[in-house]
Amino acid sequence: MGHPLLYRRAAPVEDPTDPALRALVADMRDTMRALNGAGLAAPQIGVSLRVVIFGVEANPRYPEAEPVPQTVLINPSIQVLGRETETGWEGCLSVPGLRGRVTRPRRIRYRGLTLEGETLDRTVEGFHARVVQHECDHLDGVLFPMRLKDPRDLVFEEVLAGEAGGEI
Ligand code: NI
Repeated sequence: MGHPLLYRRAAPVEDPTDPALRALVADMRDTMRALNGAGLAAPQIGVSLRVVIFGVEANPRYPEAEPVPQTVLINPSIQVLGRETETGWEGCLSVPGLRGRVTRPRRIRYRGLTLEGETLDRTVEGFHARVVQHECDHLDGVLFPMRLKDPRDLVFEEVLAGEAGGEI
């Protein structure tokens, strides 16, 4: 947090099948796995391109989260479905040690390209929708603390873990 690249609008990818992009995604996967992240956007590792990855199996950072398929999304777009919102805790590998209570649309349709140049089109809700919105925010220079309605909704992980009575 604080690095200028994280507040910039990232550039669209011209050729999703470019081998250089494959190498970038491999770097992103390594970073995400090493830090137990639920997702990662290219600007978080210093590359200002519209590429995100996400996926949740059993994740110690999100023990109660429903699984989200491992996904690479290039040049993503999001359409909000309905007016319903949901408030939930978010963390970010660019905002270490902190969690925030963020309100977001509950249901979305998202589209983007895969590394094979195929179109991905999914309608999702809940945690899956939250993860996608969080990662795509990174491509527009938005970090989750900028979405908080009340600064008191930003807390240290240790405090939240204490409240929950367990590890997060
Ligand atoms: Ni993040």
